[in-house]
Amino acid sequence: MTILSVENLGRSFGGIRANHDISFDINEGEILGIIGPNGAGKSTLFDLITGYTKADSGKVVFAGQDISALRPDKISNLGIGRTFQKLKPFADMTLLENVMIGSFVRESNIKKARDNALEIIDFVDLIEKRHHFARELSTGQRKRLELARAMAIKPRLLLMDEVTGGVDQKTIPGLVALIKRLKASGVTIATIEHNINIIMEISDNILALDQGQKIAFGKPKDIQNNQKVIDSYLGTVDVA
Ligand SMILES: Nc1ncnc2c1ncn2[C@@H]1O[C@H](COP(=O)(O)OP(=O)(O)OP(=O)(O)O)[C@@H](O)[C@H]1O
Ligand SMILES: [Mg+2]
Repeated sequence: MTILSVENLGRSFGGIRANHDISFDINEGEILGIIGPNGAGKSTLFDLITGYTKADSGKVVFAGQDISALRPDKISNLGIGRTFQKLKPFADMTLLENVMIGSFVRESNIKKARDNALEIIDFVDLIEKRHHFARELSTGQRKRLELARAMAIKPRLLLMDEVTGGVDQKTIPGLVALIKRLKASGVTIATIEHNINIIMEISDNILALDQGQKIAFGKPKDIQNNQKVIDSYLGTVDVA
């Protein structure tokens, strides 16, 4: 079943067509991997889906509802969570407090919001850090914080913008395992990812963007052999 339909989405910034006539679907329970060179329009696509930027054309349909004109908080309430490429935790709040802010979207009772946040912090394997300030956490731990904050709203669809970007190599397997656990828990995922080995391993489908346009959509194996994708992107990255 389709949970998200992106239909002919377009957005320009001045003369730059950040997204141009992009269409694709995400099936419930699957992982969509999104790849493309820097400036391809990947983060803009997430901004459009989550209402942080308004589209010039096209629409976004989530669980049968047109959400194109909704504000970010409404879209979050409907069940789309996201992480940001540029991490922005509240540095002087604890990990637990940061995640509780997400919990309050679904739960106004403080004890229940706290319990929900603790459960998620445990899920991302940071329970022993719950009373640490966000500023004390490593980059890998802050990526998990960001994921936990997004998960705290109990999303049906979770958009992740370069969750493994900027973390050291030894942190990556744990993050990949976490993404797999999330999928197993029933959450639908769209993930922007520069690590091509990870994207090939975890994705059910892959969307390839270049210069604001969709250049390919399909199964990992087909994408890996797609000449347009090789020319625009895969030819420039290391594939183990
Ligand atoms: N708010 C904005 N104002 C002006 N230009 C923007 C804005 N947001 C994005 N752009 C431009 O739109 C294009 C697509 O940017 P976007 O951030 O979506 O790319 P990306 O694929 O996420 O790149 P990266 O891999 O570097 O994160 C770029 O040329 C960028 O400079
Ligand atoms: Mg980006």
